[in-house]
Amino acid sequence: MSENVVELRDVSKVYRGEGTEVIALSGLNLQVERGRFVSIMGPSGCGKTTLLNLLGALDKPSTGEVILDGVDISKAREGDLPKIRAEKVGFVFQSFNLLPTLTALENVELPMERGRVPKKERRKRALELLKSVGLAKKAESKPTKLSAGEQQRVAIARALANNPAIILADEPTGNLDSKTGLKIVKLLRRLSIQGRTILMVTHDRQMASLGDTMHFLKDGKVLKKEKKGTLAADRKDVSLCPQCNKELSPDFIVCPYCGTGL
Ligand SMILES: Nc1ncnc2c1ncn2[C@@H]1O[C@H](COP(=O)(O)OP(=O)(O)OP(=O)(O)O)[C@@H](O)[C@H]1O
Ligand SMILES: [Mg+2]
Repeated sequence: MSENVVELRDVSKVYRGEGTEVIALSGLNLQVERGRFVSIMGPSGCGKTTLLNLLGALDKPSTGEVILDGVDISKAREGDLPKIRAEKVGFVFQSFNLLPTLTALENVELPMERGRVPKKERRKRALELLKSVGLAKKAESKPTKLSAGEQQRVAIARALANNPAIILADEPTGNLDSKTGLKIVKLLRRLSIQGRTILMVTHDRQMASLGDTMHFLKDGKVLKKEKKGTLAADRKDVSLCPQCNKELSPDFIVCPYCGTGL
């Protein structure tokens, strides 16, 4: 049976200022099953970032329900939002948002510092995550010494640090050339094949088409949904590493788990 990690019911978000009112979302319904890779497209100002802010527990809806991995964000206390966010959400931003004074490894470790994971464990996990995005050798590099694509891969490793229920990516390829951007979206797709739930906002249709489903937003509502693939577990494009037997996407030339060349 499928399980929804995200459930939005009749959601609206209105930004009120002095004498102004912007209806960013209105009557929005959305469900995302665990393990799906969902792309969100739509014109500037249609509410894409607003939607991610609600899903990322950065903000609460004006009306309606936002349920994330069983937690109703609409009913949560403001003070509880940071904890929900830290435990359930991994963010990937257009501008990477890495801390320039920290190494790649320290950037990935940072979100784990909120929890009770001992320092040694954190370091081990951060290294494994960097390895999984093909950057074990750059662990000690500061972001300024990394290419844009490498910085985004560190940011993806960081987003995975707390094993979140969902990864939210807002224009993750916006600052990358198209070849590097495609590699990043393929990496996100590979993570979804491994069972991660991913919601990506993009203006690029080619990138969006790598998702399982594409949702088109206009005036704060889902206008159209195009279905593409199947659930990760049902996919035909999964192969197994001959060394460690883990599931892999056929795009890989090196197994992200054991490092075997494929
Ligand atoms: N904090 C805010 N206060 C007031 N209005 C806001 C605020 N944030 C967003 N808006 C407005 O809400 C609407 C939706 O904004 P949002 O940032 O969600 O759009 P978007 O689809 O992400 O656009 P883009 O593609 O340009 O990033 C816009 O009209 C925007 O001006
Ligand atoms: Mg936006």
